Amino acid sequence: MQLEPEDERVLAGEEGETRQRMLELLVALGKVFGAEQLVRIRSAQVSGASYKTIGEYGLQWLSTLDARAVVPAVLNPIGMPRGRWQEMGVDEDFAQKQQAVVAAYERLGIGLECTCTPYYLHETGFGDHLAWSESSAVSYANSVIGARTNREGGPGALAAALVGKTPCYGLHLAKNRRPQLVIRVQADTRDWSIAHFGALGYHAGKLAGNRIPFFSGITPDRDQLKALGAAMAATGAVALYHVEGITPEAVKVPFDLGGLETIAVESDEIRHLFREIPVDAVAVGCPHCSPAELEEIARLLKGKLVTMPLYIFAAQGVIEANQRVADTIEKSGARVFADTCMVVSPVMEQYEAIMVNSGKALAYVPDMCAAVARIGTIEECVKVATE
Ligand code: F3S
Repeated sequence: MQLEPEDERVLAGEEGETRQRMLELLVALGKVFGAEQLVRIRSAQVSGASYKTIGEYGLQWLSTLDARAVVPAVLNPIGMPRGRWQEMGVDEDFAQKQQAVVAAYERLGIGLECTCTPYYLHETGFGDHLAWSESSAVSYANSVIGARTNREGGPGALAAALVGKTPCYGLHLAKNRRPQLVIRVQADTRDWSIAHFGALGYHAGKLAGNRIPFFSGITPDRDQLKALGAAMAATGAVALYHVEGITPEAVKVPFDLGGLETIAVESDEIRHLFREIPVDAVAVGCPHCSPAELEEIARLLKGKLVTMPLYIFAAQGVIEANQRVADTIEKSGARVFADTCMVVSPVMEQYEAIMVNSGKALAYVPDMCAAVARIGTIEECVKVATE
């Protein structure tokens, strides 16, 4: 692997043991995946932030590290909202351990945002190289923004944040970003909501597996693309997709689709996922809500009171920038929580059936929360939570 003189100095230990070990990890990863060089990154998003995931061993490992991030970096969602964990009903013992994990990352210079939507916080542009971990964020960065990131594991993303580079292989290279499958949606999608695109992603992820799909027949907006990609990364391993005439590479790159397998998807295959089953909680914000989604929820909740728990999840920075909207939502009795979500918080395990508007949550809630999952539009979620 070709390294720059500054990398050789780091490898020689001239910038401390932690950076040396982190660069050794990146070089080892690069060799495994055939990278010829490292590439500078614009930002990192680090998974392994929930105490539920990394446990005591991970916490101890983090406390052995001594370096600071050299690029903007955030954490993946954790098991609780940092400032409001009591209100969410999080166990005190878990909260203390979770706080210790966050403090360990803070000492390493990782920003205290725990979110799967880092693109709302740090400017990310077409062609930027990144080291992001969370699968929906990776999908959004690659597909909707046209940035370039592999799906990093926690240690790889942390190493990249501390070194400022990542091995250049996989989706960092244009030759690996071409479509491998065409999905032709044969349905009138003009009235489709975010939830319908999440349901399409739920179905399409199973069809695509780990291939790069190219969609035709749909015209989703950015929030709908977010839902589509998140679900495909959950039921499949899709880290990049293209949408004809919409996503940046589908517009800029003359892809040759000749010879690719083509699969048609019809309306019934999506609509049958919308089963009307009773639920005892509703959760919106998987991936974390955009400002537009928060506004939509506030509009729908205006003048209403919730009759069952309604959780809304968003990045702290997005909530703070839209505090009045969040306050309007909370007047109904719903709660707008940062840092966590319906899948990673242990609090959600108390419910037997949870309604979501997300194809990704539809896929994960049954296993991660041991609850039945129902998908519906934001309007339907609000209706169920307030009737
Ligand atoms: Fe984000 Fe949690 Fe969904 S991490 S994508 S809100 S499962």
